[in-house]
Amino acid sequence: MMPIDLPPGFLLGAATSAYQIEGGRDADGKGPSIWDHFSHRRGRIRHGHNGDHACDTYRDFQTDIDIMRQLGLDAYRLSVSWPRVMPEGRGRVNEKGLDYYERLIDALLAAGIAPFVTLFHWDLPLALHRERGGFARREGAEHFADYAAVVVGRLGDRVSHWITLNEPWVYATFGHMAGNHAPGRRNPWAYLRATHHQLLGHGLAAARIKALRPAAQVGISLNLTPAHPATPRAADRQAAALADQMVNRLFLDPLFHGHYPEPYWGKLRLFRPTVRPDDMAIISNSLDFLGVNYYTRARVRHHRLVPLVQLWPETLPAVATEGQVAAGVEYSRMGWEVYPAGLFELLFRLKKEYGNPPVYITENGAAFDDVVTADGRVHDEQRRSYLAQHLAVTGAAARVGVDVRGYFVWSLLDNFEWTYGYNKRFGIVHVDFASQRRTIKDSGLWYGELIRGKRKN
Ligand code: FCB
Repeated sequence: MMPIDLPPGFLLGAATSAYQIEGGRDADGKGPSIWDHFSHRRGRIRHGHNGDHACDTYRDFQTDIDIMRQLGLDAYRLSVSWPRVMPEGRGRVNEKGLDYYERLIDALLAAGIAPFVTLFHWDLPLALHRERGGFARREGAEHFADYAAVVVGRLGDRVSHWITLNEPWVYATFGHMAGNHAPGRRNPWAYLRATHHQLLGHGLAAARIKALRPAAQVGISLNLTPAHPATPRAADRQAAALADQMVNRLFLDPLFHGHYPEPYWGKLRLFRPTVRPDDMAIISNSLDFLGVNYYTRARVRHHRLVPLVQLWPETLPAVATEGQVAAGVEYSRMGWEVYPAGLFELLFRLKKEYGNPPVYITENGAAFDDVVTADGRVHDEQRRSYLAQHLAVTGAAARVGVDVRGYFVWSLLDNFEWTYGYNKRFGIVHVDFASQRRTIKDSGLWYGELIRGKRKN
């Protein structure tokens, strides 16, 4: 296997998000989020799971910080729950919510771990959705910027890296068109509005953060997925190029080039929101770094029956079972192909086509079936190998001049994996949800050794 050779000063960390780990659903004045509501609706989440308790980190974060310190992590990416800080999403501030994040960040700093803070990881305040339409309305962008200013006003003296939004594509597409994520809408107008208004919210928030803290580093985390044609047929190649616009360029192009990608944007003209003259200037040139969340690639086919775009991603080959190897290809428990070369392809493309921005890989990891053995260990060799392969290609990208500065494993902890509930385990630390007991998996121990080795060099 390719050796892992990372540039000097490269940060190694792990990531989580508020709704997936905190629990404390109405503790200390927190308002409900769209995920609190959605996960309690019948049939929305597998096994009827919800995030009411999750990893219980609202009550105890110190246990996990001790683990991070033991592993030697340089950095930890966490998200702030908007309704914990502003229960109605706008106006009134819940100081106790801010106190919690202040304590958490102080404890991280005391442990020598740099906090990377995401402001929106999908848990929109329910009131903002119900009364104001959330990001589906233009004012959602302004509410988000106001909220960002509140958080940065309190924590900006101790956090240097801010991530405005996590995966706006997933939030817009699954939340507003597919309907399988909160808020559960199925409306193409809402989908495109949520897309544009998130980008606008990002740009407005970035400006507010900079005004408060000129030295702050502001980024956004995008789920970038290479879209490859399922066959060499011209129709499939065209479908793949369009899928690339739909998932990757819909965000990269406005952020780096100041316009939406054609022909995708044109095909959707019926559903498009109003884009005001200044919007693209607000959105572009707003980044100090780009966060890349990478898991797998998509193989795309032309599909006559899909309206407008006429494409469909190939699903798991019939021969493969989730978590297995089929025809020489390995799949994770999510049914996602293990494809480290895709990360190299993406990173190189950012250098070639988007001006080589500073990049942090803000999520990368895999779900596998983990068991705690009688000796109290979790032998997750597949995850260790997944992480090692992706770190190796990250180092290779740095050697050809990609400005990649850090890497966060998704995830520090097994957690609430959205519609899948708790049965998809992504952690390098195993969580027994009944007892809240933590067990560092073999992949976590290995990651700790890697960090120690890097420090010696
Ligand atoms: C990403 C999300 C993250 C987690 C991983 C598996 O899309 O940002 O919260 O669910 O996938």
